[in-house]
Amino acid sequence: MSFHTVEQAPARLNRSELAVPGTSVQMFEKAAKSEADVIFLDLEDAVAPDDKAQARKNIIKALNEIDWGKKTMSVRINGLDTHYMYRDVVDVVEQAGERLDLIMIPKVGTAADVYAVDMMVTQIEDAKGYKKRIGFEHIIETALGMQNVSDIAAASKRNESLHFGVADYAASTRARTTIIGGVNPDYAVLTDPLEDGSRAVHWGDMWHYALARMVVAARANGLRPVDGPFGDFQDADGYRAAARRAAVLGCEGKWAIHPSQIALANEVMSPSEKEVTRAKRILEAMAEAAAQGKGAVSLDGRLIDYASIRQAEVLVEKARQIAGE
Ligand code: GLV
Ligand code: MG
Repeated sequence: MSFHTVEQAPARLNRSELAVPGTSVQMFEKAAKSEADVIFLDLEDAVAPDDKAQARKNIIKALNEIDWGKKTMSVRINGLDTHYMYRDVVDVVEQAGERLDLIMIPKVGTAADVYAVDMMVTQIEDAKGYKKRIGFEHIIETALGMQNVSDIAAASKRNESLHFGVADYAASTRARTTIIGGVNPDYAVLTDPLEDGSRAVHWGDMWHYALARMVVAARANGLRPVDGPFGDFQDADGYRAAARRAAVLGCEGKWAIHPSQIALANEVMSPSEKEVTRAKRILEAMAEAAAQGKGAVSLDGRLIDYASIRQAEVLVEKARQIAGE
């Protein structure tokens, strides 16, 4: 281990993060009763410019009046390049800051963006005498944001999570696709001819690098990496596959842009019983090995060692968190 200790963000379940437009008041109660771990009420891209002011009012009222239970509540403010952003922060934090857990900052590009919002939120919290500190979640969804992802991740003590905003990221990098989060047939490898002359096509994941890069920056700073939207909400299998890829890379959760995606995210982002059982067996086997003065042993024909303990502990700890222990 490095001498540098990575401080971990507050432990929250973040398997599913439901997006709810600030104009969709009819969806608020349903969202509150859903199984989503986190809800973000949106003031940004799901709200048309003429509706921004009303959406802000809706969100403030909803945060104050709806029983959101134990849900982690977030508001996605507008980008720092718009004039909506300052009023989003001022109005929402002043008038509903006590029920707000997180602010989601879209299209964050530099550490200075984080600093600016931190300064505003700090002043409002101090002026209002709030005891609780609001956390930040950042959407990495521009080329600039990805270039500066490590600095962004380290920019504030409020930082809790990084999210991969695949739609805007595609636009910002001018990727030739209009698909949100799915695979693209043009991102494929054509094999050389096989013995019978045929050629196989292997589809790839065009977002692999971006997501993996973001996961590293998040984890190196003790933050939760969360995968963003999957646009085709009719394609449950496609969603599951995308969520599984994100989970194996280290993501803790995925957005749900439709209520039907909440259960899918919770299912994929929770370790299965089989995984947890194996993790517990690894811990038992390693405890036995340690008692016999051994550092590495074999379990079910595979080598396990001290690194296996750390891997297993991650899974067991996640299972405990989900069980509310
Ligand atoms: C999310 O905001 C995205 O752009 O994918
Ligand atoms: Mg976006």
